[in-house]
This record gives sequence, C-alpha cells and structure tokens, in this order.
Amino acid sequence: MYAKNYTVIDSGKNQKDGLIPVASRWFGSWRLSIDRREYSVVELTDRYDAAAKSWNQTLSRLGVSKAYQSLANSLYGELVAHHRDTELRVLECGAGTAELSRALVALHPNPVQVCAVDISAEMLRQASQEFQNAGLEAELVLSDVRNLPFSDNSQDVVIAAHVLEHLADPRPAIAEMFRVLKPEGLALLCCTRQSFSGKWIQMKWRTHTVTPQLMRAWLDQQGFDRIKQVSIDDQSKLNKFSLAFIAEKSNVAKVAA
Ligand SMILES: C[S@@+](CC[C@H](N)C(=O)[O-])C[C@H]1O[C@@H](n2cnc3c(N)ncnc32)[C@H](O)[C@@H]1O
Repeated sequence: MYAKNYTVIDSGKNQKDGLIPVASRWFGSWRLSIDRREYSVVELTDRYDAAAKSWNQTLSRLGVSKAYQSLANSLYGELVAHHRDTELRVLECGAGTAELSRALVALHPNPVQVCAVDISAEMLRQASQEFQNAGLEAELVLSDVRNLPFSDNSQDVVIAAHVLEHLADPRPAIAEMFRVLKPEGLALLCCTRQSFSGKWIQMKWRTHTVTPQLMRAWLDQQGFDRIKQVSIDDQSKLNKFSLAFIAEKSNVAKVAA
C-alpha cells in the first residue's frame, strides 16, 4: 500500500449513543416526541465499511465529486493569500475516500501532505487505492475525529465533509480540528443541512440536523475567525442537501465578548 501509516488510535467503542429528534408535538402541557437512537460508532463503522466499495460511485451519482471540486476552488481561493509558496499539510477528518483532499491537491502547485482520518478501515483502504491511482501519497489513520492523534498547531488545512452530522455533539470534534490547525490555518466544514433531501439522508444514515446558524455558532465558540458560508455548485445535487463553511484559526486568541 502507498499508505505511510495505518494506525488504530481509538475505536470509540466507549462513546455514548445520542438521540436524534425526529418529530415532536405539544398537546396542552404534554409533549409527544419521537426520537431515534443514532448509530453507535461500531454500527456506523460497519455501515461505512459495507458502503466503502461503491462510495465513489455514490459520490459521482450525486454530483458530489464535481461539487467538491468547486468547494476545493473556494478553499484554495482563501489559501493562496497565505500559503501560495509553501508545502501544505492537509488533514481530512471523516475522510471516506478523501475525494475533497485530492481535489485540493490538484490545485496547489507545491507538495501537499495529506492525512486522511476515518473510523472505517474499508473507507481508508478505498482512499489508499484512489491516492495510488492518482500517483499520490497519503497517510491513513484509523481514528475518531473527537480524538485526533496530531500535535497542536500542526496542520495548514483541516477538511471535514459530511461527518459532523453523525455526532450528537460536534463541538469536541471542532475543538480538535481547531487545536491541530496552525495559526492562520483554514477549516472547510461541509454538512448535511435541513432540507427535503437532507431528511432522507437523516433517515438512512441516522444523522443529526445542522443549520447554518448552528455551524456558525460552533465555529465562533471554538475561536474561529473569518467564518463564512460558501456556496455549493448549484448544478450539483449536493447543493440541495448540504451547507459549507470556511473559517480561519486566527493567530491571536479570541477574547470572549
Ligand atoms: C458521509 S461519509 C463522508 C465521507 C467523505 N468525507 C465524503 O464526503 O465523501 C462519513 C464518513 O465519516 C466517517 N466517520 C463517521 N463518524 C466518524 C468519527 N466519529 N470519526 C471519524 N470518522 C467518522 C465514516 O466512516 C465515513 O467515512
């Protein structure tokens, strides 16, 4: 394998399961609500292991590959100001086959060191194959995004596409991403949003609902700066069910208001 590193860090088996609110209605002082248990990390790993072989076909069918190219363009537009002539360290969290990282690598003229983190070994195997097919190297790490095995201030870019919605509370994961980013480093976060298609995904994958307001608040609370929502290629189906934000880790600590 091309992978330089293939390490099991944390299977996440001890994480507590969360509940997904599906519907609720008030009857006088009574509230009737229906919640669904989210997948445990072990169940989710099994599901993504099973989906890994055909994951890239799924991405193409949904027009995600094309949309990821346009997201990579937006990210690169922000990056060039600070990192044009430097080698980049890119960490993709919940990477799956790491399509978004490869789209970014294709744009940067200098070497890019990609590290893909995921809980699914099969996804990482597919990612390894894809990097190999593209003649690229990448480091693959089997780990939970809430416990990133990287030192503080070590990454130029952190990408997380469609993983945060699997977490009942994404804040610890965002805190980890912030911790490992270098000052002036950039995060690109993309999530399933509240929408008709988003609901279908929520049913199929037991994801939580993310709104632009929530995402902005999480990034802000964590200390990110220059938080902005970026548009997703409106020709792609991704536009119908996802939202994306880019934010910067400022090189001065944010003071609480
Ligand atoms: C919807 S897929 C997205 C994959 C890829 N980012 C993409 O956009 O094609 C979600 C991915 O996140 C991974 N994942 C889910 N929960 C995770 C966690 N707590 N830590 C690390 N990876 C996780 C899954 O194994 C899966 O590969």
